[in-house]
Amino acid sequence: MARYYDRIYWSKDYDGEVAFLVALFRRYGVAGRRLLEIGCGTGNHTRAFVARGFQVTALDLSEDVLRIARRKVRHGARFVQGDMRDLDAKIEGRYDVVVCLFSTISYNLTRSDLKKTLRGFYDHVKDDGMVVFDTHFTKKGFLDGYRGEDIFDDGKIIGARLSTSKRRGDVGEISFTYLIKDGRKVITLRNDVHRLGLFVPEEFLETMRDVGFEKTEVYSDWTFRKGSNTAPFKDSVFVGRGIARGMR
Ligand SMILES: C[S@@+](CC[C@H](N)C(=O)[O-])C[C@H]1O[C@@H](n2cnc3c(N)ncnc32)[C@H](O)[C@@H]1O
Repeated sequence: MARYYDRIYWSKDYDGEVAFLVALFRRYGVAGRRLLEIGCGTGNHTRAFVARGFQVTALDLSEDVLRIARRKVRHGARFVQGDMRDLDAKIEGRYDVVVCLFSTISYNLTRSDLKKTLRGFYDHVKDDGMVVFDTHFTKKGFLDGYRGEDIFDDGKIIGARLSTSKRRGDVGEISFTYLIKDGRKVITLRNDVHRLGLFVPEEFLETMRDVGFEKTEVYSDWTFRKGSNTAPFKDSVFVGRGIARGMR
Protein backbone atom coordinates (compact mmCIF):
# COMPACT_ATOMS: atom_id res chain seq x y z
CA MET A 1 0.00 0.00 0.00
CA ALA A 2 3.06 2.28 0.08
CA ARG A 3 2.05 3.82 -3.25
CA TYR A 4 -1.28 4.97 -1.78
CA TYR A 5 -0.08 5.91 1.70
CA ASP A 6 0.13 9.67 1.09
CA ARG A 7 -3.29 9.72 -0.52
CA ILE A 8 -4.85 7.86 2.40
CA TYR A 9 -3.34 10.26 4.96
CA TRP A 10 -3.71 13.40 2.83
CA SER A 11 -5.32 15.36 5.69
CA LYS A 12 -2.62 14.69 8.30
CA ASP A 13 -0.95 17.91 9.36
CA TYR A 14 2.71 16.81 9.11
CA ASP A 15 4.01 20.35 8.91
CA GLY A 16 1.98 21.51 11.94
CA GLU A 17 3.28 18.57 13.98
CA VAL A 18 6.88 19.35 13.05
CA ALA A 19 6.35 23.04 13.93
CA PHE A 20 5.09 21.91 17.37
CA LEU A 21 8.04 19.52 17.79
CA VAL A 22 10.59 22.19 16.93
CA ALA A 23 8.97 24.48 19.54
CA LEU A 24 9.15 21.56 22.00
CA PHE A 25 12.89 21.03 21.31
CA ARG A 26 13.43 24.75 21.90
CA ARG A 27 11.45 24.62 25.15
CA TYR A 28 13.71 21.79 26.36
CA GLY A 29 16.82 23.73 25.31
CA VAL A 30 17.84 21.25 22.61
CA ALA A 31 19.43 23.33 19.87
CA GLY A 32 21.36 20.62 17.93
CA ARG A 33 20.04 19.63 14.53
CA ARG A 34 21.09 15.99 14.22
CA LEU A 35 17.84 14.06 14.26
CA LEU A 36 17.11 10.33 14.11
CA GLU A 37 13.60 9.49 12.90
CA ILE A 38 12.30 5.99 13.53
CA GLY A 39 9.50 4.60 11.32
CA CYS A 40 9.75 7.47 8.83
CA GLY A 41 7.25 5.95 6.38
CA THR A 42 7.08 7.91 3.13
CA GLY A 43 9.13 10.77 4.60
CA ASN A 44 6.55 13.47 5.29
CA HIS A 45 7.88 14.48 8.71
CA THR A 46 11.40 13.98 7.33
CA ARG A 47 10.80 16.54 4.59
CA ALA A 48 9.41 19.06 7.08
CA PHE A 49 12.40 18.59 9.43
CA VAL A 50 14.87 18.99 6.56
CA ALA A 51 13.06 22.17 5.46
CA ARG A 52 13.76 23.52 8.98
CA GLY A 53 17.48 22.80 8.74
CA PHE A 54 17.71 19.39 10.44
CA GLN A 55 20.10 16.70 9.23
CA VAL A 56 18.00 13.56 9.40
CA THR A 57 18.79 9.87 9.53
CA ALA A 58 15.47 8.13 8.91
CA LEU A 59 14.83 4.42 9.45
CA ASP A 60 11.90 2.22 8.46
CA LEU A 61 11.28 -1.51 8.26
CA SER A 62 9.68 -1.30 4.83
CA GLU A 63 11.76 -0.84 1.67
CA ASP A 64 8.56 0.09 -0.19
CA VAL A 65 7.96 3.25 1.86
CA LEU A 66 11.68 4.08 1.91
CA ARG A 67 11.77 4.11 -1.90
CA ILE A 68 9.07 6.79 -1.88
CA ALA A 69 10.75 8.75 0.93
CA ARG A 70 14.10 8.76 -0.93
CA ARG A 71 12.43 10.18 -4.02
CA LYS A 72 10.62 12.81 -1.92
CA VAL A 73 13.59 14.02 0.15
CA ARG A 74 16.69 14.16 -2.03
CA HIS A 75 18.96 16.26 0.22
CA GLY A 76 19.45 16.56 3.96
CA ALA A 77 18.31 13.07 4.88
CA ARG A 78 19.77 9.58 4.81
CA PHE A 79 17.31 6.67 4.70
CA VAL A 80 18.09 3.30 6.25
CA GLN A 81 16.13 0.06 6.27
CA GLY A 82 15.99 -1.51 9.73
CA ASP A 83 13.96 -2.65 12.71
CA MET A 84 13.37 -0.24 15.58
CA ARG A 85 13.83 -3.12 18.04
CA ASP A 86 17.42 -3.63 16.88
CA LEU A 87 18.76 -0.17 16.11
CA ASP A 88 22.40 -1.05 16.77
CA ALA A 89 22.35 -3.26 13.67
CA LYS A 90 21.91 -0.17 11.47
CA ILE A 91 22.50 3.04 13.41
CA GLU A 92 25.74 4.45 14.78
CA GLY A 93 26.41 7.41 17.01
CA ARG A 94 24.15 9.67 19.02
CA TYR A 95 21.65 12.31 17.99
CA ASP A 96 20.31 15.53 19.46
CA VAL A 97 16.78 14.23 19.02
CA VAL A 98 15.22 10.83 18.38
CA VAL A 99 11.62 10.94 17.15
CA CYS A 100 9.17 8.12 16.39
CA LEU A 101 5.89 9.49 15.04
CA PHE A 102 2.33 8.65 14.03
CA SER A 103 1.88 5.79 16.48
CA THR A 104 4.87 3.84 15.09
CA ILE A 105 5.86 3.03 18.69
CA SER A 106 2.64 0.99 18.97
CA TYR A 107 4.00 -1.59 16.51
CA ASN A 108 5.79 -2.93 19.60
CA LEU A 109 3.33 -5.58 20.69
CA THR A 110 4.85 -6.52 24.03
CA ARG A 111 6.39 -4.67 26.93
CA SER A 112 9.67 -6.46 26.24
CA ASP A 113 9.76 -5.24 22.60
CA LEU A 114 8.81 -1.74 23.77
CA LYS A 115 11.73 -1.84 26.18
CA LYS A 116 14.18 -3.03 23.49
CA THR A 117 13.02 -0.22 21.23
CA LEU A 118 13.23 2.48 23.89
CA ARG A 119 16.66 1.25 25.00
CA GLY A 120 17.80 1.65 21.39
CA PHE A 121 16.45 5.22 21.37
CA TYR A 122 18.26 5.92 24.63
CA ASP A 123 21.55 4.50 23.34
CA HIS A 124 21.39 6.79 20.31
CA VAL A 125 20.42 10.04 21.99
CA LYS A 126 23.03 12.48 23.32
CA ASP A 127 23.23 13.13 27.06
CA ASP A 128 21.71 16.58 26.57
CA GLY A 129 19.34 15.40 23.84
CA MET A 130 15.74 14.24 23.92
CA VAL A 131 13.33 11.63 22.62
CA VAL A 132 9.76 12.26 21.42
CA PHE A 133 7.18 9.70 20.33
CA ASP A 134 3.41 9.85 19.97
CA THR A 135 0.60 7.35 19.84
CA HIS A 136 -3.15 7.36 19.67
CA PHE A 137 -3.39 3.72 20.65
CA THR A 138 -3.74 3.17 24.37
CA LYS A 139 -5.64 0.58 26.37
CA LYS A 140 -8.35 3.12 27.09
CA GLY A 141 -8.40 4.82 23.69
CA PHE A 142 -8.60 1.74 21.45
CA LEU A 143 -12.13 1.38 20.06
CA ASP A 144 -12.99 -2.31 20.20
CA GLY A 145 -15.62 -3.09 17.56
CA TYR A 146 -15.12 0.20 15.68
CA ARG A 147 -16.31 0.36 12.07
CA GLY A 148 -15.19 3.26 9.89
CA GLU A 149 -14.88 4.36 6.29
CA ASP A 150 -12.80 7.02 4.51
CA ILE A 151 -12.72 8.23 0.95
CA PHE A 152 -9.65 9.72 -0.69
CA ASP A 153 -9.71 11.39 -4.06
CA ASP A 154 -6.91 13.49 -5.56
CA GLY A 155 -8.56 13.76 -8.96
CA LYS A 156 -6.45 10.87 -10.37
CA ILE A 157 -6.79 8.17 -7.76
CA ILE A 158 -10.04 7.52 -5.92
CA GLY A 159 -10.12 5.12 -3.03
CA ALA A 160 -12.33 3.91 -0.23
CA ARG A 161 -11.11 2.30 2.94
CA LEU A 162 -13.18 0.31 5.41
CA SER A 163 -11.72 -0.28 8.85
CA THR A 164 -12.76 -2.70 11.54
CA SER A 165 -11.12 -2.90 14.93
CA LYS A 166 -10.94 -5.77 17.37
CA ARG A 167 -9.19 -5.89 20.70
CA ARG A 168 -7.40 -9.16 21.43
CA GLY A 169 -6.09 -8.93 24.97
CA ASP A 170 -3.44 -6.24 24.99
CA VAL A 171 -3.21 -6.13 21.21
CA GLY A 172 -5.47 -3.98 19.05
CA GLU A 173 -6.09 -5.34 15.59
CA ILE A 174 -7.22 -3.03 12.80
CA SER A 175 -8.16 -4.61 9.47
CA PHE A 176 -8.40 -2.40 6.43
CA THR A 177 -10.13 -3.27 3.17
CA TYR A 178 -9.42 -1.01 0.18
CA LEU A 179 -11.14 -0.38 -3.10
CA ILE A 180 -9.00 1.85 -5.31
CA LYS A 181 -9.52 3.19 -8.81
CA ASP A 182 -6.10 4.17 -10.15
CA GLY A 183 -6.54 5.38 -13.73
CA ARG A 184 -7.98 2.43 -15.58
CA LYS A 185 -6.91 -0.04 -12.92
CA VAL A 186 -9.26 -1.12 -10.13
CA ILE A 187 -7.58 -2.62 -7.12
CA THR A 188 -9.27 -4.34 -4.22
CA LEU A 189 -7.31 -5.31 -1.20
CA ARG A 190 -8.73 -7.11 1.78
CA ASN A 191 -7.29 -7.64 5.19
CA ASP A 192 -4.37 -5.27 5.45
CA VAL A 193 -4.06 -6.10 9.14
CA HIS A 194 -2.21 -3.87 11.60
CA ARG A 195 -1.48 -5.19 15.08
CA LEU A 196 -0.78 -2.61 17.76
CA GLY A 197 0.42 -3.05 21.32
CA LEU A 198 -1.94 -1.45 23.82
CA PHE A 199 -0.40 0.08 26.93
CA VAL A 200 -1.57 2.62 29.48
CA PRO A 201 0.36 5.91 29.33
CA GLU A 202 2.09 5.13 32.63
CA GLU A 203 3.56 1.94 31.07
CA PHE A 204 5.25 4.05 28.36
CA LEU A 205 6.60 6.46 30.97
CA GLU A 206 7.77 3.68 33.27
CA THR A 207 9.54 1.85 30.43
CA MET A 208 11.22 5.10 29.39
CA ARG A 209 12.51 5.55 32.94
CA ASP A 210 13.57 1.86 33.11
CA VAL A 211 15.92 2.30 30.16
CA GLY A 212 17.40 5.53 31.56
CA PHE A 213 15.37 8.48 30.29
CA GLU A 214 15.01 11.37 32.72
CA LYS A 215 12.38 14.09 33.04
CA THR A 216 9.77 11.98 31.27
CA GLU A 217 6.61 13.82 30.41
CA VAL A 218 3.49 13.39 28.31
CA TYR A 219 1.66 16.13 26.40
CA SER A 220 -1.90 16.13 25.14
CA ASP A 221 -2.49 15.98 21.39
CA TRP A 222 0.22 18.31 19.98
CA THR A 223 -0.27 21.01 22.59
CA PHE A 224 1.80 22.06 25.59
CA ARG A 225 -0.98 20.88 27.89
CA LYS A 226 0.52 18.25 30.19
CA GLY A 227 -1.15 14.85 30.54
CA SER A 228 -2.02 12.05 28.16
CA ASN A 229 -4.99 12.23 25.86
CA THR A 230 -6.58 8.80 25.57
CA ALA A 231 -9.69 9.96 23.73
CA PRO A 232 -10.12 8.06 20.45
CA PHE A 233 -8.15 9.59 17.55
CA LYS A 234 -6.28 11.95 19.89
CA ASP A 235 -2.56 11.59 20.47
CA SER A 236 -0.39 11.46 23.53
CA VAL A 237 3.09 12.86 22.94
CA PHE A 238 5.80 11.38 25.17
CA VAL A 239 9.07 13.17 25.91
CA GLY A 240 12.24 12.14 27.75
CA ARG A 241 15.71 13.57 28.27
CA GLY A 242 18.86 11.55 27.77
CA ILE A 243 20.73 12.98 30.74
CA ALA A 244 20.68 10.02 33.13
CA ARG A 245 23.75 8.46 31.52
CA GLY A 246 25.61 11.75 31.88
CA MET A 247 24.76 11.90 35.61
CA ARG A 248 25.96 8.37 36.43
C1 LIG B 1 1.70 4.51 10.83
S1 LIG B 1 3.17 4.42 9.85
C2 LIG B 1 3.91 6.01 10.25
C3 LIG B 1 4.88 6.46 9.20
C4 LIG B 1 5.38 7.89 9.36
N1 LIG B 1 6.03 8.10 10.64
C5 LIG B 1 4.26 8.88 9.17
O1 LIG B 1 4.02 9.68 10.10
O2 LIG B 1 3.65 8.91 8.10
C6 LIG B 1 4.19 3.29 10.75
C7 LIG B 1 5.52 3.03 10.10
O3 LIG B 1 6.28 2.21 10.99
C8 LIG B 1 7.00 1.27 10.23
N2 LIG B 1 7.33 0.15 11.12
C9 LIG B 1 6.50 -0.81 11.62
N3 LIG B 1 7.20 -1.65 12.40
C10 LIG B 1 8.48 -1.21 12.40
C11 LIG B 1 9.67 -1.70 13.01
N4 LIG B 1 9.67 -2.78 13.78
N5 LIG B 1 10.81 -1.00 12.80
C12 LIG B 1 10.82 0.10 12.00
N6 LIG B 1 9.73 0.59 11.39
C13 LIG B 1 8.57 -0.06 11.59
C14 LIG B 1 6.07 0.91 9.08
O4 LIG B 1 6.77 0.36 7.99
C15 LIG B 1 5.43 2.27 8.77
O5 LIG B 1 6.14 2.97 7.79
